[in-house]
Parts: sequence; C-alpha cells; structure tokens
Amino acid sequence: MTINLLYISISGNVRSFAKRIQQLSESKHQENPSFPIIQGKEIHDNSSVVQETEPYVVVVPTYLEGGNGIDSGDQEILTESLGDYLDDQTDRTLCLGIIGSGNKNFAHQYCLTAKQYAKRFNLPFLADFELRGNAKEIETIYLMIADLWQETHKIN
Ligand SMILES: Cc1cc2nc3c(=O)[nH]c(=O)nc-3n(C[C@H](O)[C@H](O)[C@H](O)COP(=O)(O)O)c2cc1C
Repeated sequence: MTINLLYISISGNVRSFAKRIQQLSESKHQENPSFPIIQGKEIHDNSSVVQETEPYVVVVPTYLEGGNGIDSGDQEILTESLGDYLDDQTDRTLCLGIIGSGNKNFAHQYCLTAKQYAKRFNLPFLADFELRGNAKEIETIYLMIADLWQETHKIN
C-alpha cells in the first residue's frame, strides 16, 4: 500500500513536492483505501544504500554546469548521489520511473537530468514539473503513480 518516492533536493523544491504529494496520497487513501500512500525518502550524500523491495519512483531536479542540452557537453552537479544510489540497486525493475523538477528558463536543458537518468537506467521518464510543482501537477502525477502501482499489483 506504500510507494517510496526517492528524491534529492538541494534548495527545497523537490522536498516540498514530496511532502505535498505524500499529504495528497494520505487523504486519497483515507477516502478510498485502494489508493496507495506515497512515502517520501530523501537521499543525501552520505545516505547508506538500502535495497528497495517494493515498487518505487524517483524524483530528481536538474543542476548542470555548462552545455546547452543539445550539442555541447553538460555536467551533472549536486545530484549525483541519487544516481549513485540508483546505480547500487540490484533490482531496478522495481522502479516505476523517473520524474523531473526543473525550470523552463533552461530551455533544452529543462529537466535534463531526469531524462538522462531514464536513459542511463533504462526506465520510463514519467513526468516533469516546474520548481515545487503546483496542486494540479501534483494531483496528475499522483494519479499516474497510483495507476502504475495498481498495474504492477494486477500482474504480480
Ligand atoms: C545553479 C542552478 C542550475 C540549474 N540548472 C537547471 C537546468 O539545467 N535545467 C532545469 O530544468 N533546471 C535547472 N535549475 C532549476 C532547478 O532544477 C529547479 O529549481 C528545481 O526545482 C530545484 O529543486 P530543489 O529545490 O529540490 O533542489 C537550476 C537551478 C540552479 C540554482
């Protein structure tokens, strides 16, 4: 009934998103127990790796140094420990996908780290939201995660 939402947050936007999507999931679950609860799990530079044993989702903001997102190199900064954490998961098929937070002012680099993680780990890029995400984005993303979760539970 609980889906972990693994995230990293440097300036607090994704932390706020995680808190609000968790609150929304709790009220949805109270109305209808078939709705899953989302549990935010913040990854830090010094987090020790715990192997996930149930379906989970990942939220990553984008911080890049250099590049333009099209034809020149870009370097992920500040968020690498989430990538390392995912790298250390032995069964990544449990990951339902990657969600990105970014700022559209960055044009072609908008949410690029989430897209790069999706490619690197061969996982679906599920959704993006700007900065902390608004109520509508949070509800849409929650319903998408709930659907995916219900699908996984039909199969297994
Ligand atoms: C130095 C810096 C670089 C950033 N680079 C990008 C970028 O390349 N693409 C993008 O979509 N957002 C970029 N952003 C915006 C952040 O990804 C966005 O504010 C995000 O919500 C931050 O999440 P956090 O507050 O949880 O760390 C950048 C922000 C900063 C401060």
